[in-house]
Amino acid sequence: MSLPRTRKVPFGGDYNPEQWPEEVWRQDYRLFDAARIDTVTLGVFTWARTQPALDVYDFTTLDRIVERAGAEGRQICLATGTGAHPAWLARAFPEVTRVDFEGRRHRYGQRHNSCPSSPVFRRLSAELARRIAARYAGHPAVVAWHVGNEYGGACYCDLCAAGFRDWLRSRYGTLEALNTAWYTTFWSHTFTDWDEIEPPSALTEHWRGPNHTAFQGITLDYLRFMSDAMLANFVDEKAAIRQASDLPVTTNLMGMYRPIDYHRWAPHLDFASWDNYPPDDRSPAWMALAHDLMRGLKDGQPFWLMEQTPSYTASRDVNPLKRPGVMRLWSWQAVAHGADAVLFFQMRASRGACEKYHGAVIGHAGRDDTRVFREVAALGAELDRLGGTTLGARTPARVALLFDWDSWWAVEISDGPSRLVRYQQVVHAYYRALWDAGADVDVLPVTADLTRYDVVVAPVLHMVKDDLPQRLEAVAARGGSVLTTFLSGRVDVHDQAFLTDVPGPLGALLGIRVDEWDAREAEVVNPVRLTVGDSEVGVESRLVFELVIPQGAEVVGRYGADFYAGTPAVTRNRFGAGHGWYVGTHLDRAGVDRVVRQVLSRHDLLGPYADVPEVESTVRVAPDGTRLRFLLNHRSEPVEVDPARAGLDLLTGDRVTPGEPVRLEPYGVRVVREEPADG
Ligand code: GLA
Ligand code: ZN
Repeated sequence: MSLPRTRKVPFGGDYNPEQWPEEVWRQDYRLFDAARIDTVTLGVFTWARTQPALDVYDFTTLDRIVERAGAEGRQICLATGTGAHPAWLARAFPEVTRVDFEGRRHRYGQRHNSCPSSPVFRRLSAELARRIAARYAGHPAVVAWHVGNEYGGACYCDLCAAGFRDWLRSRYGTLEALNTAWYTTFWSHTFTDWDEIEPPSALTEHWRGPNHTAFQGITLDYLRFMSDAMLANFVDEKAAIRQASDLPVTTNLMGMYRPIDYHRWAPHLDFASWDNYPPDDRSPAWMALAHDLMRGLKDGQPFWLMEQTPSYTASRDVNPLKRPGVMRLWSWQAVAHGADAVLFFQMRASRGACEKYHGAVIGHAGRDDTRVFREVAALGAELDRLGGTTLGARTPARVALLFDWDSWWAVEISDGPSRLVRYQQVVHAYYRALWDAGADVDVLPVTADLTRYDVVVAPVLHMVKDDLPQRLEAVAARGGSVLTTFLSGRVDVHDQAFLTDVPGPLGALLGIRVDEWDAREAEVVNPVRLTVGDSEVGVESRLVFELVIPQGAEVVGRYGADFYAGTPAVTRNRFGAGHGWYVGTHLDRAGVDRVVRQVLSRHDLLGPYADVPEVESTVRVAPDGTRLRFLLNHRSEPVEVDPARAGLDLLTGDRVTPGEPVRLEPYGVRVVREEPADG
């Protein structure tokens, strides 16, 4: 089971006609025609309408909405509608609402607010999904199922506590094993009965919020349990859908979202989809990283871009407008990284409530002559012209970047060495250097098959599990390069330190030992001198300074200050035919760039535009072998680049030839179908 079958890149998005009288629907579809919107996601927040009371199901409205979309020739991504539960449900069964980290039982309100362990929620959400699938499975317009919405958050209620104890029983079997895993001899925490175990919250192990815990093992397991508990909700609904339909099932993920371990979810999704709302308006590498992470969930299978705003969000304190051309650019960026659908939130702006100022294809005035509408329509026309060329195309990456929720959680709930180290920022720093250098990157779980990669980058690989050290050693042994950083190789699957030198089981590969480390406030800089080829360059390091003692590795960079001035900060160890690199401190952008480019150049993996700032280039290879190169100019000024290979720009019909530079407009895009390299 994989992606929905479509003729071209689906274009459209979330559409909530239940908020509007039917005359408005007619206007909407005329505008959808003009913008070539061929796909609508329906019913995401319709539970109160489809089940107005415990024993009453009423599909009148959804029937009309689905009928209308079908009659208008649109494809439907049909939601089960369980992202927000109805008010009557919370009143009748207070157990469906959550208890928060502070221990407060919530009352009815907001959305994404159901206790994942509530038997009532589980039964009724699955029943609703079952009925929706049974009713609409045969409808020819339905191409995919959308379960829930943006799963996330956490609950600390008694039902979740009981669920946690069950989860622990099946993970550990005995209390002895659990006590060992959690290191409960510390602070006299030995558990003598499963019922003594409490969810880790502000009332129990935590102080100053979710990252400060007395027992990392408990908190880590609760994070894993919560991720699994919500996954069980998804799986409940998916199983209910499967009783009536074989169509692909997904839920909209959120990229780098800490509370849910998407790698544990991935096997249960038929295809990945996600909502791209970057933290600011200047984050091309951040978005690229998130796209690659989403593509890595299903082993490189394309994903759907389920949501993005055409113009602005409303949920931030300050919501910048996408500049002319940026919506198009970011849409193509998604396709360049493996998206096989380009969808928006939302088709028509809500009239009231908290999203009335969230951007939409159709605004409150219903006009088709706004700038945003025109840009959406122009993109629709482009995607139409492109047809099915990109569908199913894969990224031929030879660089893997490892992303690990366990390491993310472990490093951020750790007391010491530094609360200033943020997992995403370090991962992003290395990803950005790879992105700047123009390498195609697969962002993968630590369990992934690494045999097809020349370079494996694993920033802050704090927790090392299973046979990962051997698999990394194998990469280096056959001539590849493995790079990791400070705070790697520190703890096992239970967050217990290895009883050996740091970096634990990575020591042989890296050829180093770390006995001491220093952490300083963000403004403290330690200059580092890096050896690059025959020359030396000065860069800066911050936050954490590990005192690296070579055990065979050669020194590539040295600290310049403090009592450890002159000692190694960056090392490279020959291992078999390849290398294990270690960066013992948080280098600045220039430093990370220098190191990453040295690694890439050894494998001839610098992209053709590595020296053109903010010009992104990726490759996708279609199932029939067609090679597509995406060129994306993230700058507000035009730029000229020399084509890497001869080919045809599928958007303009221009032929491109090496030696004859092509112009990329401000925020401009080209999609070049390249000819084979040897003519
Ligand atoms: C999320 C949700 C949507 C909507 C948008 C607004 O992605 O899935 O329902 O709230 O955010 O940005
Ligand atoms: Zn709960």
